[in-house]
Amino acid sequence: MANKPPFIAGNWKMHMTIAEAKNLATAIVKASADLLEAEIVLAPPFTALSEVKKVLEDGSVQLAAQNLFWEEKGAFTGEVSAPMLKDAGCQYVIIGHSERRQYFGESDAGVNKKVSAALKSGVFPILCIGESLAERDRDETMDILSRQIQGGLEGIAAGDFKSIVVAYEPVWAIGTGKTATPGQAEEVHSHIREKLALSYGIGPAECAIILYGGSVKPANSFALQSEKNIDGFLVGGASLEAESFIQITREAIRAYKEKK
Ligand code: PGA
Repeated sequence: MANKPPFIAGNWKMHMTIAEAKNLATAIVKASADLLEAEIVLAPPFTALSEVKKVLEDGSVQLAAQNLFWEEKGAFTGEVSAPMLKDAGCQYVIIGHSERRQYFGESDAGVNKKVSAALKSGVFPILCIGESLAERDRDETMDILSRQIQGGLEGIAAGDFKSIVVAYEPVWAIGTGKTATPGQAEEVHSHIREKLALSYGIGPAECAIILYGGSVKPANSFALQSEKNIDGFLVGGASLEAESFIQITREAIRAYKEKK
């Protein structure tokens, strides 16, 4: 298994005024000079994308949006398209986050259209998958994830798959303070990689970046990143303060170096 530099994405969700977003991004950019071994991505709300982009301009920290709509343009009030995200300077876009699936009724078929639309515009998808607590209790975790992977990646060719980051986020761990244990997360990550290998071959599956998300904190990031199949994190709550986000990144880099 290729040991990859940690990929650490901060999902700011529906937080931050433009001024707050600029301050947070500025602090992270400043610290990132000492964190060059990690790929850092920030996902502010739509309203702050262009201003945060200016802060990131000359550094290595990348910009992500939290959602998109699959059509390129048209009468879709309230929606934002992939070409618009590209224009705003986004390299990545989070797709199919469990909060979108849960509160906005997103389905695997819709997620799949969004993945295709992002790829078409040259914006890299961060495809989120994860089971609920009830599904885990019913022992359905692997089936749910297989279904989400299959549905989300339907029709995506191997060449495009290389541009996709997968994020495993157990719904019961998001914002709850209940992190999956490193063992629980690793078990699922290795299943995801096997599943990807069936569709795209062992080589591309090994190269795929698979993130863990759900109550990632400075205190648990080293142990999680130390697992063989965990390549980084999608961080919610702990990404809203520079200090904890930077500390998570530091711990991930330390684990990456020890994994080598
Ligand atoms: P959390 O959120 O770190 O606050 O649990 C993770 C996410 O939803 O991406």
